[in-house]
Amino acid sequence: MTRYLVTSALPYINGMKHLGNLVGSMLPADVYSRFLRLEGEEVIYICATDEHGTPAEIAALEEGLDVRTYCDIQHQRQKDVYMRFGLSFDYFGRSSSPQNHELTQHFFRMLDKNGFIEEREIQQIYCLDDERYLPDRYVIGTCPHCGYDMARGDQCENCATLLDPSELINPRSAVSSSQNLELRKSRHLFLKLDALASEVERWVKSHQDWPRLTKSIALKWLNEGLQPRCITRDLSWGVPVPKEGFEDKVFYVWFDAPIEYIGATKEWSDADPDACDWKSWWYDAKDVYHVQFMAKDNLPFHTIVWPATILGTREPWTMASYIKGFNWLTYYGGKFSTSQGRGVFMDQALQILPPDYWRYFLMTQAPESDDSDFTWELFSAVVNKDLAGTLGNFVNRTLKLAESQFGNTIPAGGIWGPQEDELLENCKNSMTDYRSALRKFEFRKAVLALKQLWSHGNVYIDARAPWNLVKTQRDEAALVVRTCINLVRTYALASSPIIPFTSEILFDSLGMDAQERKADLDQALDLNALKAGREFEVPPILFRKIEADEVTKLQEQFGGVSE
Ligand code: 2FM
Ligand code: ZN
Repeated sequence: MTRYLVTSALPYINGMKHLGNLVGSMLPADVYSRFLRLEGEEVIYICATDEHGTPAEIAALEEGLDVRTYCDIQHQRQKDVYMRFGLSFDYFGRSSSPQNHELTQHFFRMLDKNGFIEEREIQQIYCLDDERYLPDRYVIGTCPHCGYDMARGDQCENCATLLDPSELINPRSAVSSSQNLELRKSRHLFLKLDALASEVERWVKSHQDWPRLTKSIALKWLNEGLQPRCITRDLSWGVPVPKEGFEDKVFYVWFDAPIEYIGATKEWSDADPDACDWKSWWYDAKDVYHVQFMAKDNLPFHTIVWPATILGTREPWTMASYIKGFNWLTYYGGKFSTSQGRGVFMDQALQILPPDYWRYFLMTQAPESDDSDFTWELFSAVVNKDLAGTLGNFVNRTLKLAESQFGNTIPAGGIWGPQEDELLENCKNSMTDYRSALRKFEFRKAVLALKQLWSHGNVYIDARAPWNLVKTQRDEAALVVRTCINLVRTYALASSPIIPFTSEILFDSLGMDAQERKADLDQALDLNALKAGREFEVPPILFRKIEADEVTKLQEQFGGVSE
């Protein structure tokens, strides 16, 4: 039996994530994990905060906190909002954990022992006032190409030219604006990606089934030729380098971050040994199918650098079986931007509407084959049509009619006929499409199939018009109502990977117990599962419509409308 190990890219510790971050990694990973659980598969979904690196140090400095305290607070803040969005991690760890420190040092030692580490001397910019080395993007100055005076040392945001900090005119520290900068030489450790290139290439090419985006980015990097990559930094916050002469350095955040996929699983095992045996998932785990979810900027690291790191240990650590990469979700055609206050952040989203509105909408727009664009107009149109108009409407009219005509118990009577056969057949087809799309990581297709499944209910109830039948053929009306109530159960079960909170509301209203809520997607198609005589309650309106004036207000509040 295959076991599924699901991970989503580890969000950086600094700052609340926006909806673009959510749809590009954690949300589809959650939907996929929930779906597999529903299919009865053994699955664990692991994520964590990515806590090391200069951005964390500087953010802490700005808030007047030591970096560990800063990370403690931010980790809790992020974890809290992910829980509120229903992200069903089996464990949400921290890359600053002792487990990750230990594993990172182990990975390094193995790479070093196997000859994949080399020493090189490099020059870096040191700020005498900040008393720290500055990464390229923390040096700002005037762009030599366009004259923009806030250009970053890695790239000018105004003309997009890639820069080296030494090219900037009047360079200064982005931390303090100090111009007291100097170039300093120091020795660093490099991972010899060049020596592992052919093995990585073989590994990449053995995965023909990966999405086009993933393959093309991996092959582009391989074709450009792999160079040794610096894996150490002159910082104090990070995993210390266990090598003589490098005691005052730490590993580059990107070296220890993917190791935290393993580290987080070990954190879980250490906290609850009965719940999880981390090594059985990560070491010599031949029955494990490992799926990674991420946005496209993370693909080079996961298709090249991380596999090279694993291959270089010469140990049987679990490597990705499938890497699902996503394009960008844009906001009115531009980037979501924290600094410019454009776009919607996860905590803000939940102040506007409950999580399922966002989860559903975002999955309909998953940027799978291309970038996709968030606008409030589109958001309201999808919510109004699919959630309020199709699913919400069906549930509401079914249960309301049932209650008003038959009271709060599922009515008996009537004989299953050809129209019910047709309904069942349609549902089976949509369910098959839904399951096969999710198995293949085709999220947009999956949502379309789910929507189709919902619409069969409306077509059936409209055709059967139980509100008329009840006047002349009460038994027949009872059959239709009973079948529709069973469809509500089908929808609650099938929709749970995408809108889990709504499913719970529906389960509650149908009085389903814990065992009944565990039905799989084959059992979900049983339109006679809920028998006559069972009590139910009419839930409050499931989804409300978003009106035009609200759209205008949201645009104003969040900076909409194309620039
Ligand atoms: O892009 C990011 O948000 C990174 N923190 C992703 C790291 S993924 C993994 F390697 F840890
Ligand atoms: Zn420029």
